[in-house]
Amino acid sequence: MNNKTTISSFFWQIIKPYKWWYLVMIPGPFVTAAFVFGYNYAIKLLLDVLTQDKILHYGDFVYPVGIFLGSHFMVDIFFRISNYAEWKSQPQVRKDIMCKVYDYVMGHSYNFFQNNLSGSIISKIKSINDGYYYLFESIKHNLTAKFLISLLCAICLLCINSKIFIMVGLFTVGLVIVSMTLYRKLGVMQGEISNDYHGVIGLIADNITNIANVSLFASKKAESQSIINHQENISTPLRNKWFKLNFITEIIVTMIYSLFGISVLLYSIYLKNSGQITIGDIAFTMSMTFLFQDNIFGLFIEVKKFVNTWSDFKTSFSIMQIPQEKIDKTDATELKVSGGEVIFENINFGYENNNKVFTNLNLKIKAGQKIGIVGSSGAGKSTLVALLLKHFKADNGNMIIDNQSIYDVTSDSLRSQISLIPQDIVLFHRSVGENIGYAKKEANQAEIENAAKMASIHDFIETLPEKYNTLVGERGVKLSGGQRQRIAIARAILKNAPILILDEATSALDSETEQQIQKSISDMLETNKATVIAIAHRLSTIKHLDRIVVMENGAIAEDGMFDELLAKENSKFKALWDRQVNGMVL
Ligand SMILES: Nc1ncnc2c1ncn2[C@@H]1O[C@H](COP(=O)(O)OP(=O)(O)O)[C@@H](O)[C@H]1O
Ligand SMILES: [Mg+2]
Repeated sequence: MNNKTTISSFFWQIIKPYKWWYLVMIPGPFVTAAFVFGYNYAIKLLLDVLTQDKILHYGDFVYPVGIFLGSHFMVDIFFRISNYAEWKSQPQVRKDIMCKVYDYVMGHSYNFFQNNLSGSIISKIKSINDGYYYLFESIKHNLTAKFLISLLCAICLLCINSKIFIMVGLFTVGLVIVSMTLYRKLGVMQGEISNDYHGVIGLIADNITNIANVSLFASKKAESQSIINHQENISTPLRNKWFKLNFITEIIVTMIYSLFGISVLLYSIYLKNSGQITIGDIAFTMSMTFLFQDNIFGLFIEVKKFVNTWSDFKTSFSIMQIPQEKIDKTDATELKVSGGEVIFENINFGYENNNKVFTNLNLKIKAGQKIGIVGSSGAGKSTLVALLLKHFKADNGNMIIDNQSIYDVTSDSLRSQISLIPQDIVLFHRSVGENIGYAKKEANQAEIENAAKMASIHDFIETLPEKYNTLVGERGVKLSGGQRQRIAIARAILKNAPILILDEATSALDSETEQQIQKSISDMLETNKATVIAIAHRLSTIKHLDRIVVMENGAIAEDGMFDELLAKENSKFKALWDRQVNGMVL
């Protein structure tokens, strides 16, 4: 799927494998229309037989009764066939829509998810799936049948009495012009309502995600009020506007509809009185006219629903039309790491154009070197990691791992060679064991437990009600920050990648646990000789590393060994150290 995805091409892709089943479903509405026609035609025939001036035999009724029963039988047969086709295609089609939409949305860049509320995205995914269902139901069961019945009635009227047909035609043209103009306006309004609705769901989801903050800052009332305000100031006026126009539309359509019914009725009485048609014909004409009237009215109501659902669908479908940011080149190769040398070369980057995080940043980390990066918060340390992982693209410059530019290799192969223990650890609402095993798909229980032991979390897991099978709650809320960090460390141990990045990875741990884990990490590093980039807030944790880099305003301010930097008078590192020692942040 690409940025040219239109709704029709999307549907065609989905429907194509099941096109024969769709074809089988097509006769259903035609047969329904034929049945309605047959039923009324049978009554006309019956009346014609009954009003004959002769003694009637059972044989005289064979033809009308045959048509009546025949049309009944046809409709049953075709509907069963159509139901079977629906059964054979729809579960698959619904599955394909869900999977395609999910796949496309998940293929968006990291940036996309940072800029769009997850609640809105989910709401749109749901609307696309529900939208298809309503559109399908509408076309299959209502729109087509009503349209065909109306068409058939019109043809019958033309055959019986062309004047009534012309009357019906004129009214229909008037109805189409008036209602289509108004329905189109209603559709546009519905698009605005849907957009607003997805936004509100986004806001609500954001509040639910932030429930801890909402409670902590006692802002439940304020948050509710802001939703109420949004509803009162934006959502309700939008809906009121829609309802007002809908009300006017209904009045106009009903007026045309009533006028039409009365006119045809009066004209038919005139035709009967002047003896221009038989009693059977007049019964048939009247029933066709009223059937036409009912169906055309029903059709317009259905069209209105269809237009509304379509507008909502179109609004939601926009997530399928936002082009996916291409992170990898088409000819990208697999990254092969032999030693783990990492070079940042003339990196320029800003999240926004005029707000640079890095200007010409250069940093060379030798294979197997263990480097600590320190610097005040907001200096750009996490951004450096995000660039190395290709979550964002540098405006200029290059990052080279073992002589391969990260821009020439696939992001999957790049990320598979890097273990990251991030600052904010969010877990899946799955078991503890699954969360640790996420790092290595084929990991067995023994490997998972071993990693947990090294990360000093095994003993804690053993105390949980279902041990490794215990669910951790959405985002891992049932665990403490420190426990989540240890799970992330266990993951990194299990992944055993040649490049390890720790982004303030032990900041949520108490000193004792931190020491234990530092030892586990050191043991792991000893065995796999990984290149390590350790971003640290607590400077004591990077004491044992080979080299320290101090970042300031997006550039390297100092670079050297721990003791060397500390010994230097007026060094920025010494100033940071002194501040921490005095402030007791050890
Ligand atoms: N996704 C983002 N969009 C826009 N600006 C960002 C984003 N992430 C970080 N920043 C900004 O980039 C700067 C560097 O942030 P970061 O790399 O997280 O700092 P550090 O990890 O050193 O504390 C900060 O000014 C921050 O506000
Ligand atoms: Mg950071």
